[in-house]
Amino acid sequence: MKILAFNGSPRMKSGCTEIVLNKFLEGASRAGAEVETVYLKEAGLKPCLGCYTCWFRTPGRCVQADGWEEIHRKAISSNVMVFATPLYNYTMTSYMKVLLERLLPIWEPFIVKKKGVCFHPSRYGKYDPVVLLSVCGFPEGAHFDALVKTFQQHFGRLLVGKVLRSASEIMRERQDRLNHIFDAFFRAGMEVVQNGRISPETEEAAAAPIIGVEEFIEVSNRRFNALLSNQS
Ligand SMILES: Cc1cc2nc3c(=O)[nH]c(=O)nc-3n(C[C@H](O)[C@H](O)[C@H](O)COP(=O)(O)O)c2cc1C
Repeated sequence: MKILAFNGSPRMKSGCTEIVLNKFLEGASRAGAEVETVYLKEAGLKPCLGCYTCWFRTPGRCVQADGWEEIHRKAISSNVMVFATPLYNYTMTSYMKVLLERLLPIWEPFIVKKKGVCFHPSRYGKYDPVVLLSVCGFPEGAHFDALVKTFQQHFGRLLVGKVLRSASEIMRERQDRLNHIFDAFFRAGMEVVQNGRISPETEEAAAAPIIGVEEFIEVSNRRFNALLSNQS
């Protein structure tokens, strides 16, 4: 099984997304999967032009000569895709949004209806599972609601799990005390390979609170004050 992860953080290997994504991929790898991460900032994808050339003039092929070809090849030869993005403005980063736009050619233009919902069928007959992984700065899990809804609407039943980590910057500072959280991300990776989905218990364990809201406010403001006074 090939697991292809897209890391949509502009911080790439030095970000919080990378920390939990790596735990997830370690779990998947331990369970026997072949894993690969694509850093979207380096992938050189431009936004979709909306020309529909990939649907009608050159079916399955995008007109833009950028990083699309390689991403497309990897996407259609993988068995699971992991969309890993920090939460930006209650949703995904621009890098991740551009990726979703540019995956348009993997779908055909035709419209079919199943269980009362219209969708475009896969060009390759492939309906592989998808995982959403995200981190966010604020401590409450509710900040992810709009992002989760977007992925649920986009991928429907193909979305086989979501692993969401709030208070991500605190997580980075307290890594030595958070093995239970990292274990949950590791387990999530194993479960996708072994069971084809992430259990609700593992999703809950990955998202478990790591700091109270009042303490979060105090710790964060203290840090911001220190950073600001270092500037002066
Ligand atoms: C432009 C921008 C928008 C952000 N929007 C949100 C947000 O809506 N909610 C939130 O909790 N954190 C938000 N954050 C904080 C990031 O989600 C957080 O710092 C995260 O750890 C970044 O992940 P990375 O280190 O992998 O890049 C935002 C950060 C930036 C730079």
